Amino acid sequence: MTHILILNGPNLNLLGTRQPETYGTITLKDIETMCAKEAGRLGVKLDFAQSNHEGALIDIIHETKAEGIILNAGAYTHSSIAIMDAISSVDKPVLELHLSNIHQREGFRQHSYISKVAFAMICGLGASGYPLALRAMSDHLAL
Ligand code: DQA
Repeated sequence: MTHILILNGPNLNLLGTRQPETYGTITLKDIETMCAKEAGRLGVKLDFAQSNHEGALIDIIHETKAEGIILNAGAYTHSSIAIMDAISSVDKPVLELHLSNIHQREGFRQHSYISKVAFAMICGLGASGYPLALRAMSDHLAL
């Protein structure tokens, strides 16, 4: 069975109450439920994780048994060479994901270290991007 990890970075645990005008009112738990349903439809084994800590995210990337990683690295997207290097250090496809359209926002959000090592990126679709990313990763791993 195809095994996929959805990994969420800092402050995404506060979805629902965090800047709802930008990120919507849906919680991370709601997103996990949506993704679990989609994983069931796709016949995919899903792990879903979140951490506010850069090193913890890196440990998860190193240790996951999943074949592909969907990563919303939050603000570490724009700053973390260490997370970029962690992705380069494991031989696994990564799909970069953001709720908001980072290219429409502040200049500092328009550069992504993750994009350098991800095979694709989805942004601007809000929570709907998550099940879409799961489908895309499942298709990618089936190629
Ligand atoms: C985000 C975009 C980042 O710029 C921001 O720091 C986040 C969330 C998104 O999902 O839109 O924490 O990754």
